[in-house]
Amino acid sequence: MTAPWWQTGVIYQIYLRSFQDSNHDGIGDLKGVARRLDYLAGLGVEAIWISPFYPSPIADFGYDVADYCGVDARFGTLADFDDLLAQAHARGLKVLLDFVPNHTSDRHPWFVASRSSRDHPKRDWYIWRDGAPDGAPPNNWISDFGGSAWEWDAVTRQYYYHAFLKEQADLNWRNPAVQAAMYDVMRFWFDRGVDGFRIDVLWHMVKAADFADNPPNPDYQPGMGEMHRVLQLHSTDQPEVHAIAADMRAIADSYGAGSERVLIGEIYLPVDRLMHYYGRDRAEVHLPFNFQLVDAPWDARALATLIAGYEAALSGGWPNWVLGNHDRPRVAAKRGQAQARVAAMLLLTLRGTPTLYYGDELGLSDVAIPPEQVQDPRELREPGLGLGRDPVRTPMPWDGTENAGFTTGRPWLPLNADWPTRNVARMAQEPDSILALYRRLLTLRRARPALSTGDIALLDAEGDVLAYERRHGGERLIVALNLGERPQHLALPDWARDCQPLLSTVAGAAPGGDGVLLLRADEGVILKAD
Ligand code: GLC
Repeated sequence: MTAPWWQTGVIYQIYLRSFQDSNHDGIGDLKGVARRLDYLAGLGVEAIWISPFYPSPIADFGYDVADYCGVDARFGTLADFDDLLAQAHARGLKVLLDFVPNHTSDRHPWFVASRSSRDHPKRDWYIWRDGAPDGAPPNNWISDFGGSAWEWDAVTRQYYYHAFLKEQADLNWRNPAVQAAMYDVMRFWFDRGVDGFRIDVLWHMVKAADFADNPPNPDYQPGMGEMHRVLQLHSTDQPEVHAIAADMRAIADSYGAGSERVLIGEIYLPVDRLMHYYGRDRAEVHLPFNFQLVDAPWDARALATLIAGYEAALSGGWPNWVLGNHDRPRVAAKRGQAQARVAAMLLLTLRGTPTLYYGDELGLSDVAIPPEQVQDPRELREPGLGLGRDPVRTPMPWDGTENAGFTTGRPWLPLNADWPTRNVARMAQEPDSILALYRRLLTLRRARPALSTGDIALLDAEGDVLAYERRHGGERLIVALNLGERPQHLALPDWARDCQPLLSTVAGAAPGGDGVLLLRADEGVILKAD
């Protein structure tokens, strides 16, 4: 049986506001994405995931949805979406949407109705509670963006719960009517032909029925962000969320004929908890996002332990890997340019589905945003802690023309200062650019099943070297990564003594050795052993 596309292919995350503007307003849009489909198909990815484009007051840049079945005029029209989908499919690209089920905008008609009176039939679609006897919030739950997660409503004299901004009211997923309405939203998009969803904050969706206080976090340090004062024991990851994830999966599976629809869950949890989201009695999401590489120390032994631990925990679930996204610092900012190349090789050669964040293929780094240009509510609410997400959401640099070809208007966030040299058109011409490396890696991955669906086995290595074997049928490959800036060596296993290099992250011929692989500073290599 051949493996499904979501196991063999690579997913590319498009942060829509920053990908390509087509109407000169300085904000990326759906027509802009359509213009760049040839680039994406040429890069060699299988699917694109597009951040939310639904009608929204943009309090949290579209993660505050006011209508789940429409397109915000800033981003285009439903016809533009249908056109984008058709054009993507014509190029063999799948399209995944960002589904935001945990909360709606406070302007969503459901919430407007819910807050209109305590007796409204939609009152119970959201989470309303009386205050404590002294009028304080119902419990100590803290918003992920800082401050109490409860907002007082002066008209109906109750608090409502919001895990994020007060403009993002949490839905009450214990209410079957909410479930039915949101499952209809999934069907609306599946019926239009979308290939799957990335599900926003899946682990947040159900809260403990007794609303017990969260325990204090013994490791809290000022500077972490206020949300970390408590452990989110009762406000997230409740057992009842799994039936909901399973219902969602059943809906996705009901569309499976011909091409499987995929569900990816955004879940920040330790590995043992994460594994439950694959489903036990009933299947849940295909890919619970594995964010471990985002925060992991860049240390060969630590990464080897992390990979082994994740692989051991999977028990049949299909793995996946992520280096960065629209919420976290970019890989080039954390690791530097030379190691960003090594990280690319790691991401694209580990066993499992990789998700690539737009711009990482250019080595795009975080862009410092002057205080007066800050847009992200995360930064505005808790400034100066380095929690803001604007630096990782800056426009894609396409070419050497005005605003790097992103917009002819005023870009909503500043471009990276190095855009005149760090842009797609220029780097596509440079044989040793990181973009060229990404293309080679993606081509190699498509050509060699060992790199996508093959088995993985870690190899003994020392110093800064992380090494593993990928194997499929008779094909055996070795990936050896030097995570440091000093030369290293790797004693090759006997079966690999005559191996041939397929690809290096560093230009020029690698020095040979007798049974010993010499790795230059910041070098990663893929070798063919059979
Ligand atoms: C997810 C999104 C993030 C958003 C939050 C609230 O974590 O990735 O961007 O702010 O959910 O919807």
